[in-house]
Amino acid sequence: AATLRLAAATRGKFIGFAAATNLLTNDASYRSIAQTEFNQVTAENAMKWDATEPNDNQYSFAGADQVVAFAQANSQVVHGHTLVWHSQTPGWVQGLSATAMRTAMQDHIATVVGRYASNPAVQSWDVVNEIFNEDGTRRASFWQNTLGDSYVADAFRYARAADPDARLCINDYNVEGIGAKSNAMYNLVQSLRAQNVPVDCVGFQGHLGTQYGFPSQVQQNMQRFADLGVQVRVTELDVRSVLPMDATKTQTQITYYTNVVNACIAVTACAGITIWGIDDGHSWVPSTFSGQGAALLWDASYNRKSVYDAVNAAL
Ligand code: XIL
Repeated sequence: AATLRLAAATRGKFIGFAAATNLLTNDASYRSIAQTEFNQVTAENAMKWDATEPNDNQYSFAGADQVVAFAQANSQVVHGHTLVWHSQTPGWVQGLSATAMRTAMQDHIATVVGRYASNPAVQSWDVVNEIFNEDGTRRASFWQNTLGDSYVADAFRYARAADPDARLCINDYNVEGIGAKSNAMYNLVQSLRAQNVPVDCVGFQGHLGTQYGFPSQVQQNMQRFADLGVQVRVTELDVRSVLPMDATKTQTQITYYTNVVNACIAVTACAGITIWGIDDGHSWVPSTFSGQGAALLWDASYNRKSVYDAVNAAL
């Protein structure tokens, strides 16, 4: 198709990108691709706690509002990311007592979700993010250490109260295939729903790398969550490589992106795919994984890469 969003629309799926607020404003090439190629937006950082409530009860929505306004102007939907996470959360939250921390969480969720509850573009939220260790035990975050297991159910209940119509997701990485971590996610979602905790959706981040094998049984994994009655989505897809790129890595990257697209298309409950950025020049990968990069569909000069064509064709 002429664009990714046209291709995705024929499948009834969304295709989205993680938006860097400053680039939407300052970079016309970035903005043009964002407008034409995608029909869904996730704020890469602007809706996180450190951005929206840097100090107790001092909210700041400039970046978040800008992402939402951009999406509305371009007929795109917004996935809110993220409410309760161990990272990018201010120190003032981390040091609270249990009672005060639970109150802060409730206030934060009520205020952030509440701000967009009547906005039809903002349809879903990552309520909790990255709560598991690789072996499926709970991550020993300040949330877990202060509040215990119950903070997850509480966060979902607060989010439902703030917006009864929003789709509420639990999100993590290395849960794309079947394994200890995704089994723990599966068991938790099943048990929360059995207790009427409002979990509507499971997000698979999809931060993959060509130096690793492709996750096992991605389609089957998506389907088993779908069979619990939740929507599934790929929330942060990118496929990085140890630089420099070569023909083999490029082909592996094409295969991994294509496999993810095919799995989402094969699973009716998979709503769509968000790619974690637009171009290799503004990806989180090089600054997070030393010596790695080239994870996205456009190069640093905004040229479409061969992997763009593969994703477009697979959609
Ligand atoms: C990353 C952003 O891309 C970076 O700009 C930021 O410095 C750190 O966070 N999992 C998530 C995302 O849920 O929020 C992270 O985004 C990448 C890993």
